[in-house]
Amino acid sequence: MRPGENIGVFDSGYGGLTILKEIVRVLPQYNYIYLGDNARAPYGTRSFEMVYRYTGEAVKKLFELGCRLVILACNTASAKALRTIQQVDLPEWDPEKRVLGVIRPSVEALGQYSRNGHVGILATRGTVNSLSYPMELEKLYGKQRFKITQLACPMWVPLVENNELEGEGTIYFIRKYVQELLTADPKIDTVVLACTHYPLLRPLIVRCMPPQVQVIGQGDIVADSLGDYLKRHPELEERLGTEGRVTYYTTDEAEWFERMGGIFMGEKIKCTRLVI
Ligand code: DGL
Repeated sequence: MRPGENIGVFDSGYGGLTILKEIVRVLPQYNYIYLGDNARAPYGTRSFEMVYRYTGEAVKKLFELGCRLVILACNTASAKALRTIQQVDLPEWDPEKRVLGVIRPSVEALGQYSRNGHVGILATRGTVNSLSYPMELEKLYGKQRFKITQLACPMWVPLVENNELEGEGTIYFIRKYVQELLTADPKIDTVVLACTHYPLLRPLIVRCMPPQVQVIGQGDIVADSLGDYLKRHPELEERLGTEGRVTYYTTDEAEWFERMGGIFMGEKIKCTRLVI
């Protein structure tokens, strides 16, 4: 155990907890600070400018709280803000700090999953409209390898936020989007849950999908990729504290975050409200 700097995990709200949970499972030794911008969520329906501004403010706050590295555990923020933060802001704020997203590791992992190259991306409107997934996939694998069908599922985040994880209404909206996706491309063999909230609906999504379709979440992919990154960057890894601590902050009501966050993490958590 050594004292040191933290790894920040940021999301617009609770969704990033599905990523944090896997990161902590795979790399329990480090100190984590989770920040959910619940007061300004959802990000999925917001403009590029707003997502970029809010994400930038949150990243700066996490740096102030002693993070050396911040993971944007939100697809919308990764799609709309990551590149500008990395290329424009970080060199000015602190060139020794790092911000990573969830899209690149998910795209890298996709090569191992799809057999026929027909892939479905389920995400927020913001992520879908940014075209980040098709663009990253084309950059990495060329034009021919994958046939990508994207679909925005705007009802799923509110269902999760309201803890409606089962029941007739939820099944209706899961079937609706699954059918829409498979009508657009019936050959899809792999579906990426490219929104951090969706893993909570995974059991029902799997139930509504034909058995030959694999449904992939991002938590374990991002956790493995972070482990790799830290191995490749010992100069950064050495500065991280290894006391195995997780601290939670929200920009909205702490009690509500504790209640909802407990459902996401599967255990009781303590949270503090933060103004950013
Ligand atoms: N966490 C966001 C994502 O992964 C979804 C929630 C939101 O719209 O804020 O895209």
